[in-house]
Amino acid sequence: MSRTGLRRLRVTRYVKPLREGGSLPALVEGEDDGTYVLKFRGAGQGRKALVAEVITGELGRTAGLPVPELVLCELDPALAQREPDPEIQDLVRASAGLNLGMDYLPGSLGFDPLASPVGAELASDILWFDALTTNVDRTPHNTNLLLWHGEVWAIDHGASLYFHHAWTGWREKATRPFPAAKDHVLLPFATDLDGAEERIKSKLTEEAVQEAVGLVPQEWLEGEAGFASTEDVRSAYVEYLTARLAASESWTAGLKEAHDLARRTYRGRGGER
Ligand SMILES: Nc1ncnc2c1ncn2[C@@H]1O[C@H](COP(=O)(O)OP(=O)(O)OP(=O)(O)O)[C@@H](O)[C@H]1O
Ligand SMILES: [Mg+2]
Repeated sequence: MSRTGLRRLRVTRYVKPLREGGSLPALVEGEDDGTYVLKFRGAGQGRKALVAEVITGELGRTAGLPVPELVLCELDPALAQREPDPEIQDLVRASAGLNLGMDYLPGSLGFDPLASPVGAELASDILWFDALTTNVDRTPHNTNLLLWHGEVWAIDHGASLYFHHAWTGWREKATRPFPAAKDHVLLPFATDLDGAEERIKSKLTEEAVQEAVGLVPQEWLEGEAGFASTEDVRSAYVEYLTARLAASESWTAGLKEAHDLARRTYRGRGGER
């Protein structure tokens, strides 16, 4: 299946900031009258967080995970004039042009590990996928999982692929374990990690990885130190991810050990699942 690219739309209204997000994301309205959560290119986390959102979010969707639709949002800096808050004005001005939007799930609730339902298959798939993409941002404190119409949705992949903040030694980093699994909110429920590995690897072919990396806008990849062209940057992401997929046996073993330990602790505390 070949992808033509993410949908692009113009932002027509800044509705309100989502204060709980560290990067000051906002609820915006698009020219299609849809509402989206906007991640600003000019936010402190910078454009690499948006690159990670696109690659990991789209790989996640291909892997069968429930990720809300991602779109590219064109932001007119003139929208800043209508905002009273100078911090927001600055953010809008610094983000003129392309930003990342995620379909807004109205009325969704934050996932509660003690009360929200999650099956072993989905919990295992999400944990395994987070280990693949080195996403350290799914802890009990900040789950980045939403519950919407009774289903779990995965959001906020901006902290994944952290090797790209310092490319040095990235080839070696591709095969490393994922120690952050010990803090993952779904670790106690991930009883089917072998199944997750099989399910996800069957979907994430090299072609699928290339497609996800191909969806990142060119301008977010420009000027990367140590690379001669944006094509070289894309190739590096593809090489990293395919190498990590190929080496999954080694780091999946670490996930299983972390799970066994968490399960014993969870049972010790009287957990029922
Ligand atoms: N698609 C969505 N639908 C509904 N609410 C959302 C959606 N995306 C984000 N939110 C809400 O906005 C909050 C902030 O979003 P998100 O976690 O993506 O931003 P962030 O700045 O990267 O956050 P963090 O503080 O985790 O770094 C979420 O915790 C959630 O409450
Ligand atoms: Mg978040």
